[in-house]
Amino acid sequence: MKAIAVYEDGDEPVLMEKPRPEPSGGEALIRTLRVGVDGTDHEVIAGEHGGTPEGEDHIVLGHEAIGVVEDPNDTPFEVGDLVVPTVRRPPNGANEYFARGEPDMAPSGRYHERGIEGDHGFMSEYFTSPAEYLVPVPRELVELGFLVEPASIAEKAIEHTVASRSAFHWEPESAVVLGNGSLGLLTLAILGDTFDRRYCLGRRDRPDPTIDVIESLGATYINSNETPVSGIPAAYEAVDFVFEATGHAPHAFECIEALAPNGAAALLGVPGDWTFEIDGGKLHRELVLHNKALVGSVNSGYDHFEAAVESLSRLPRGYLDDLVTGVYPVEEFEAAFVDDDTTIKTAVEFGRYEER
Ligand code: NAP
Ligand code: BGC
Ligand code: ZN
Repeated sequence: MKAIAVYEDGDEPVLMEKPRPEPSGGEALIRTLRVGVDGTDHEVIAGEHGGTPEGEDHIVLGHEAIGVVEDPNDTPFEVGDLVVPTVRRPPNGANEYFARGEPDMAPSGRYHERGIEGDHGFMSEYFTSPAEYLVPVPRELVELGFLVEPASIAEKAIEHTVASRSAFHWEPESAVVLGNGSLGLLTLAILGDTFDRRYCLGRRDRPDPTIDVIESLGATYINSNETPVSGIPAAYEAVDFVFEATGHAPHAFECIEALAPNGAAALLGVPGDWTFEIDGGKLHRELVLHNKALVGSVNSGYDHFEAAVESLSRLPRGYLDDLVTGVYPVEEFEAAFVDDDTTIKTAVEFGRYEER
């Protein structure tokens, strides 16, 4: 079967042939439909994040998949069921994080991430997975089901950050998303259920397709070249909630100044090492005297995938279609990895769903 991988010493995705996997006990065989590409895939390709499976010289890419059950084997699934796989797997048999159903809370060394860290991903014509890591998806999401995984990342981060405000009466009204990449724009849409006023910060000038998408949601675009994150209260308003999805490390600290008293920020970016100056005393004081919270969040659990399925089913279809700027057949996979100002979300298509 065809698979898209990156070699350990390579810096670009390549197409290769691999044997079709055989499901073991408790696993189903899935025929892959579409697999999305995100900023993390680019970091894996550049060798900045993740790593190849032990003893192998390449990793099959892809962690945002939707597929159809080809062989349920001994699982409760039926042939033709649509499923989205979760990302983390236990490295050496189960551990307590997986046993609790909280693999997203496992520390380094206690998980592999398919397509990212230590385990092959889903960018191949078929993959196998234990049933407990397969989330059922309705027929309406067959084309956009590769957005379930990134939406689940937003669901977890929002849940954890809102939970950090659960000890008092908190009625958030305004939110800013830092980053107009695919994660930021998907989150901006999901936040529409909760926040009256939404902003999204990028560094691009008009005209730009992401700005059109932001405004189509009724949100306000903030250009970071004109308004730095710390200047958001003066130029717009101090916000109750920040969702950082730029990976630009200074934003993790500048956002403290963008928050209103009692506000909370979710940090999602995964930057490399980066030394820079901040006024630590001022920010520390600001966190304490105004009861602010910074919450780091990575990966997501099964429940977050289920919440993502619900959110995506509710969001306007036209908005999601605008986010997806290209879906390419496996033979043209290189186009899905182009990362320029004209692309928002791309995916590789391995096969089509056939009505039964
Ligand atoms: P992405 O497509 O690269 O999006 C990042 C966006 O931030 C880009 O649109 C970029 O603008 C913008 N940006 C970067 N620096 C900026 C600055 N100084 N001012 C304004 N805008 C800036 O990546 P993504 O897939 O959306 O993911 C976003 C981040 O979250 C990445 O760091 C990724 O690794 C991380 N991530 C984390 C998790 C998790 O579980 N924690 C999950 C998924 C992704 P341009 O396009 O104009 O350069
Ligand atoms: C993936 C997560 C993963 C994180 C860190 C993200 O792009 O969506 O599942 O935990 O990267 O590797
Ligand atoms: Zn991702």
